[in-house]
Amino acid sequence: MHPAIINKPALPLKAELSLPGDKSITHRAIFISAIAEGRTKINNFLFSGDCLVTINAFRKLGLRIITDKKNKRVIVYGKGLLGLSKPNSPLELKESGTTMRLLAGLLAGQDFSSKLCAGKALSLRPMRRITVPLRMMGAVIKSKIKKSLPAGRQEKSKIEEYPPLTLKGGGLKAISYRMPVASAQVKSALLLAGLYAKGQTKVIEPIKTRDHTERLLKLFAADIKIEGLKIRIKKSKLISSGLIDIPADASSSAFFIVLAALLPEAHLSIKSVGINPTRAGIIKALQKMGAEIKVSKCQSVKVSSFEPVADLLVKNSRLKAITIKAKEIPSIIDELPILMVAACLARGKTVIEGVSELRVKETDRISSMVTNLRKMGADIRLKMKKIKGVNSECLEIYGIDRFKAAKVKSFGDHRTAMSAVVAGLLAEGKTRLDDVGCIDKSFPEFVAILRRLLGRNCIKLS
Ligand code: S3P
Repeated sequence: MHPAIINKPALPLKAELSLPGDKSITHRAIFISAIAEGRTKINNFLFSGDCLVTINAFRKLGLRIITDKKNKRVIVYGKGLLGLSKPNSPLELKESGTTMRLLAGLLAGQDFSSKLCAGKALSLRPMRRITVPLRMMGAVIKSKIKKSLPAGRQEKSKIEEYPPLTLKGGGLKAISYRMPVASAQVKSALLLAGLYAKGQTKVIEPIKTRDHTERLLKLFAADIKIEGLKIRIKKSKLISSGLIDIPADASSSAFFIVLAALLPEAHLSIKSVGINPTRAGIIKALQKMGAEIKVSKCQSVKVSSFEPVADLLVKNSRLKAITIKAKEIPSIIDELPILMVAACLARGKTVIEGVSELRVKETDRISSMVTNLRKMGADIRLKMKKIKGVNSECLEIYGIDRFKAAKVKSFGDHRTAMSAVVAGLLAEGKTRLDDVGCIDKSFPEFVAILRRLLGRNCIKLS
């Protein structure tokens, strides 16, 4: 545990930042380069806990991967679709849910058996969403079957599957699958499996989720067609594009955007941020709330060709409440914790509909965020609402004037921890956070950047 004491900054936030690479794209860059023909250089690679899990897993699957942390660069020597080899021990995926779900899809296509093990928190995250369709394609998967943990008081327990997963793949057949949950991890697992299946795999999403896998597969010449919510993929040889430039992570940027929107006199520019519309819902939402965020064409020469990228300029502004509809949730799913922080300090009642998926992230983020923010004086209510005939959880957040300092917890979750840090920087008094170590999962430099910009006293580490 790495505790921290957070104080209101003495310095105004005036800076120009370049933030680390996108976590979702970094994972996918390794996955897709590994099974492509040729060598791929990946620039602005995110050297975070989860992404290192992906590198280690692929090394165990026989890949040669060279890392250069100083220059944020990785080189993957692709082995082609059938080049992976059977690992000689279980793959330890620690807390990386993206690695676990995408790898299950990829390994479903392989002719060997493998075991995917998880850390404590990931062992409690649902896997049935991938095991069901992958079994339909022909994979043989064993998992730990248990009654689901009650995700919120409203939900009934049902049978769920959890890690570890043991997979025996190969000989897959294509399926047409209408996904019951909007999940980019599930979609990506099925598209990767579809690369190995006989026939045309069709995946239909309920709501569009992040499409980084589709974009990279296209860049690597896969036979993939996208038509609104339908994606079709056929067995195809992947050819490396040679180079992948990863934009700055929109989710990591969100913590700085909200901080700049709320700190008096702030004026913050963030360079080369990924603004893929399936990911950047937070920018739209904050602009609707009245935040002054200017999105302009990237000045940097290293503009990624497969993902839209922009420079952002954020200035302090007075925020007002908005309503976020269930259909907007996938584009803002990882930013809901920090949006909740912003909503607490916005004028009026913010409503966020269809938030149940937050229950099955690194921690139950409804519970972790509501607990912390209420301790800091927030007025948040949880409501049930029927959306398309289904009972769905909604948050109602009533704006307050300011946060008060409190003792808060990360609950082992990087995004709950970063949201607590931002709320602490905006609060009167000393906020005590039990652990900032878990932030390494997605954004190891987070605390150091804040201390550099706002002074060491704003986050005291013991
Ligand atoms: C991710 C998809 C989302 C997101 C997660 C990363 C990805 O999860 O919350 O942090 O990289 O595909 P779901 O697919 O479970 O919604």
